[in-house]
Amino acid sequence: MKVTVVGAGAVGASCAEYIAMKNFASEVVVVDIKEGFAEGKAMDLMQTASLNGFDTKITGTTGDYSKTAGSKVAVITSGIPRKPGMTREELIGINAGIVKEVTANLVKHSPDVIIIVVSNPMDTMAYLVHKTSGLPKNKIIGMGGALDSARFKYRLAEALECPISDVDGMVIAAHSDTGMLPLLSKATRNGVPVSEFLNEEQQAYVAEETKVGGATLTKLLGTSAWYAPGAAVSVLVQSILCDQKKMIPCSLMLDGEYGESDICLGVPAIIGANGVEKIVDITLTDAEKAKFAEAAKAVREVNGDLKF
Ligand code: NAI
Repeated sequence: MKVTVVGAGAVGASCAEYIAMKNFASEVVVVDIKEGFAEGKAMDLMQTASLNGFDTKITGTTGDYSKTAGSKVAVITSGIPRKPGMTREELIGINAGIVKEVTANLVKHSPDVIIIVVSNPMDTMAYLVHKTSGLPKNKIIGMGGALDSARFKYRLAEALECPISDVDGMVIAAHSDTGMLPLLSKATRNGVPVSEFLNEEQQAYVAEETKVGGATLTKLLGTSAWYAPGAAVSVLVQSILCDQKKMIPCSLMLDGEYGESDICLGVPAIIGANGVEKIVDITLTDAEKAKFAEAAKAVREVNGDLKF
């Protein structure tokens, strides 16, 4: 099955690399607007095939969307990333135009495509794709929660001084520094609630470091991260292509779930061959419910800046 990745920059190339290396897709088509860039990245990645042992074919194109025809999944990473000190929301002006145009091109050549939105501000970009693509809502998935949950697990394992495979945890709500909601009440170490091991101050530290996880990396790197975002996308794509039905928090269009409607926000969902198979209803504490509603309010304000 064919996967398209739009944007051959840091995140797009990382997505293409992880998808190819896991060997579950027949072809990855990388598209970029910069002349020759996607072709170059695709050729470089293809030259790792014999070294890394994968058979996925990777091709690149400068804006020729006919090459993406028949894609089962398309990942939108095109757009500008944030620089140190910037919020994701500040990217909206440029990225909304890019995401809208890219979506139209993708749907024209792959009318049954499932779109994974990565470009920031991601919750608002996912909402834009819902409003402009004409695709059913199960076919539009914003990627944020998979990455933020991986960062949460990293911070939990660090605080607990244990292997990452021992911990489990999930981040829902908005993909923003203030709107992320790491669910400490549900986080576990080998099935035991983390509150058994971490005091309130330690839990608050984990939550705070998770929320600013992207900003911390942007400060260190001078631009936003790419390895973990690419890996998170590859997990989503694999769950769709291999119909794994994994539960992954994603930014999805809500219609009453978690008390919100007409907004894309991070909620746990079963991801399989049909894209979003089901939104999973988990019980939140009253404090978590209040934080979810607060995140929704902030995302709605950003959505208000969109022009369709
Ligand atoms: P980058 O600047 O390295 O790459 C972006 C690429 O998009 C460039 O190669 C550029 O030429 C291309 N592009 C721009 N306009 C295009 C168009 N109309 N058609 C095709 N290609 C086009 O940026 P990077 O670091 O890869 O980040 C990409 C986006 O992903 C940013 O908006 C960033 O904020 C976001 N991001 C989202 C994450 C998430 O969890 N949702 C995580 C990390 C980044």
